[in-house]
Amino acid sequence: MKIVKISMLLVAVMAVIFGLSGTSFAFHSGGVAECMGCHNIHDAKSTSSLLNNTDTTSTCAGGGTSCHGEQSAGSYHILTTAASMPSGSAPLNKTPGGDFGWLLKTYTWIPRGTTAETEEGHTHGHNVVAADIPGFVVDPVNNATPPGGGSMDPNQLSCNSCHDQHGQLRRLSTGAIAMTGAPIIGSGSYTNSTAPAAGQAVGIYRLLRGPGSEAGDGGTTFTATFNAVVASTYNRAEDTAGTAMAFGAGVSDWCATCHPDMLSATSAKHTHPTNQGFSTTVADNYNAYIGSGLTGNPAFDTLAPYANDNITDLAVLKADANNAARDASTTSRVMCLSCHRAHASGFGFMTRSNMLGNEFIAVESLFPGTDAAGIASQAKYAQGRTVAETKAAYNRSTAATWPYASYQRSLCNKCHAKD
Ligand code: HEC
Ligand code: HEC
Ligand code: HEC
Ligand code: HEC
Ligand code: HEC
Repeated sequence: MKIVKISMLLVAVMAVIFGLSGTSFAFHSGGVAECMGCHNIHDAKSTSSLLNNTDTTSTCAGGGTSCHGEQSAGSYHILTTAASMPSGSAPLNKTPGGDFGWLLKTYTWIPRGTTAETEEGHTHGHNVVAADIPGFVVDPVNNATPPGGGSMDPNQLSCNSCHDQHGQLRRLSTGAIAMTGAPIIGSGSYTNSTAPAAGQAVGIYRLLRGPGSEAGDGGTTFTATFNAVVASTYNRAEDTAGTAMAFGAGVSDWCATCHPDMLSATSAKHTHPTNQGFSTTVADNYNAYIGSGLTGNPAFDTLAPYANDNITDLAVLKADANNAARDASTTSRVMCLSCHRAHASGFGFMTRSNMLGNEFIAVESLFPGTDAAGIASQAKYAQGRTVAETKAAYNRSTAATWPYASYQRSLCNKCHAKD
């Protein structure tokens, strides 16, 4: 009886902390959360800032228990630990940003002949450093500066290098983005976020840092605002429909804050156009391309999304995200997240789909795997992964490759249609 009462009390406390009702889990509510959710005033574990765990990332996602590191698939969970991923199994979450667990997945295979190739886990994403989470250490290669011209110290990379743990940036009713001016009434990240009325504000997308935010770990300040919205059911398998989302102005400039050469047309790198409007050819390809050799009436593809730098308005972003059948146009732009995820992915260089290693992303209508039941050559395209790992890397829970072709080639073709 006592146990039941205590667990009911726990549920009640959790319900208060997370606002457990329907699918919305409010804690930050678009701005700063309850201070003691992260700080411990008299018995802190960190050496500075009085945090509940040893450092920032461990506070957000530490120990396999703290909010973002809970070891079950759930909306705001984004970090699967080694203990939850036996060999051959994939990270648990399927969010737009991607599960940091992919950083722990190293693959070895023999592409041709007898020489093995290894794809190190640390190439799968942003190596956030967390003293309390085994395996989350600085990238052993990119440990002096970020690749692509930036100067921040990768040893400092944490959740709050990119997100403001205090969530102070807000979208006012006028559309202006500011650090003050009106109270934050709730999240501004979702297709069902309430539009702020006069005298109100909503939080900036995903509490990401932007103009006016203080610097987080690593000392980076931002001048770009990351405009986007996503469905509140964003941690889901995209088996038969992509998750509703839309990217607006600022995404590429935001990433380029730490990777300036990847954006600059004048950099020494001969880099793929980014933040550049689609030519009519690219827009027409996007609006016709379903899969290799297949054309029709496709939807916005979350594995090769585009942004629209004209859009900063919450209502327009929401309308776009809710219209999966919208067409790309010459105001659509290729951006960093057309090819990359923001946290981590199942592929090298945290690309959204397999862009390196072999020509097929689907064989005989299945995602390849070393244990695939299809034709023997599938193992050749698996790059050391099981089917479970490959399909999870595409945010799928089944090996069926909707909407793509039975023999599907690279998703560079969503924009270029060279297959
Ligand atoms: C989501 C977790 C979280 C919540 C909620 C939170 N903080 Fe923090 N806070 C942090 C982290 C992480 C740091 C350390 C930042 C660093 O070291 O870069 C920090 C640092 C601080 C600092 C010292 C550095 C600075 O920015 O001045 C103060 C003061 C502070 N928090 C006050 C508060 C107050 C007051 C509240 C409640 C209104 C609050 N925090 C709520 C996570 C949080
Ligand atoms: C390099 C910058 C960066 C770092 C580091 C980072 N994030 Fe994110 N995060 C983003 C961006 C950008 C998005 C939005 C991605 C999108 O919608 O495509 C995001 C999205 C999210 C989301 C929404 C779910 C999702 O995956 O889309 C959560 C929750 C989150 N981050 C938590 C964290 C936590 C916790 C950490 C540390 C363990 C962290 N982030 C580290 C940039 C970062
Ligand atoms: C606050 C600075 C910061 C921001 C913002 C940032 N990055 Fe990074 N990025 C880094 C650092 C530091 C590294 C090197 C450490 C590593 O590779 O894990 C890195 C590494 C990378 C890598 C190489 C990963 C690997 O191991 O090969 C890619 C790709 C990348 N970032 C893309 C992006 C994209 C796309 C965005 C925008 C969503 C972005 N970054 C935003 C700091 C940042
Ligand atoms: C058209 C797809 C595409 C776009 C757009 C794109 N990338 Fe990449 N990126 C890749 C691929 C593929 C790789 C790995 C192969 C390579 O380096 O050429 C990569 C590699 C990287 C690396 C690692 C480079 C290294 O030497 O380790 C970083 C950092 C990076 N991208 C950041 C960005 C940022 C920031 C943007 C936006 C300003 C961006 N990328 C836009 C596809 C893309
Ligand atoms: C979201 C759409 C999109 C995706 C995905 C994409 N591209 Fe592009 N790409 C563009 C746009 C836009 C241009 C600019 C030219 C145009 O609009 O016709 C471009 C230009 C190029 C060019 C010509 C560059 C020049 O300077 O002449 C090459 C080559 C290219 N892309 C290769 C790739 C490869 C390889 C991939 C996959 C790794 C890829 N693209 C993925 C949209 C995309």
